[in-house]
Amino acid sequence: MKCKFCDKQAVIKLRAYNLKLCHEHFVEFIEKRVEKTIKKYKLFKKNDRILVGVSGGKDSLNTVYILNKLGYKTEGLYIDLGIGTYSEHSKEKAINFSEKFGMSIHIYEVKKDFGMGITEIARLLRRKPCSVCGVIKRYILNKFAHENGFTVLATGHNLDDETATLFSNVLSWQEGYLARQDILLPQKQEKLVKKVKPLALISERESAAYAILNGIDYIHEECPNAQGATSIFYKSILNQIETKQPSTKLRFYLDFIRRGKKFFESSLQEREEQLKPCEVCGYPTTRKVCQYCSIKNEVQKRRG
Ligand code: AMP
Ligand code: FES
Ligand code: ZN
Ligand code: ZN
Repeated sequence: MKCKFCDKQAVIKLRAYNLKLCHEHFVEFIEKRVEKTIKKYKLFKKNDRILVGVSGGKDSLNTVYILNKLGYKTEGLYIDLGIGTYSEHSKEKAINFSEKFGMSIHIYEVKKDFGMGITEIARLLRRKPCSVCGVIKRYILNKFAHENGFTVLATGHNLDDETATLFSNVLSWQEGYLARQDILLPQKQEKLVKKVKPLALISERESAAYAILNGIDYIHEECPNAQGATSIFYKSILNQIETKQPSTKLRFYLDFIRRGKKFFESSLQEREEQLKPCEVCGYPTTRKVCQYCSIKNEVQKRRG
């Protein structure tokens, strides 16, 4: 199997693009695609300060690596969620990455704020760990970015994450979520930093291959709370469709962004009009007290 662009042996076949590529041309292909996504969707500019949420997984480490390589001012924030050995291992990967490539990654401990990790918080409040975790992660990432002068917050969501979420939201016609799903969420309020997903058009397989070929060591294990998650099931269904009809995932996602999303815009406006400062912390919320502060209050109350 020869590379499409040179005489070298191809290391990967990308059926969605009908391309076989060698190591060097594959790496170049991914970086060019990310750069094109940044420019086409106007994600950020060279003078922006970008904070990347780093989980220790391939996608977020790749995001820090690629953005730095493309010349964007980028730092990472790893949130230690306190989920047993999973958090210990993922933190190790983030620290090792930062040392190996000389890229700055900050660390934030959930335990410092709550006195306990996500698993204990969820148990105490009798809530699902992933929902508590989502609220806390989103809040800390935005707050850290805002307070430390970052103009953009990037996450490592890849094409498989995005299409699985889209599929799930379409199955139950979640108008509000559909209105907000995009590669870019612009800054609508002073305290809500602009959010972007530079790897949204890169598949999980492409992302894994990119990390391996660049010597980026990442955590392979899934969060123990994600076992049996519907997103994993939807990803496998979409991959079955992709095997029969290559490039379906890309088309599904891009056609939604280009043609489908506009039909849900009214839900977005409604939500924006409802946003006001949280009575406790001042960050925008559609409630009186934001979800993060409610969780914090509840934890303090129950611990006595
Ligand atoms: P997930 O929701 O776990 O699929 O993660 C989606 C994105 O959120 C990742 O690509 C990261 O950019 C970010 N993220 C997830 N976990 C963390 C974490 N512990 N600390 C910082 N960012 C995270
Ligand atoms: Fe948040 Fe698993 S990463 S519960
Ligand atoms: Zn080549
Ligand atoms: Zn609050």
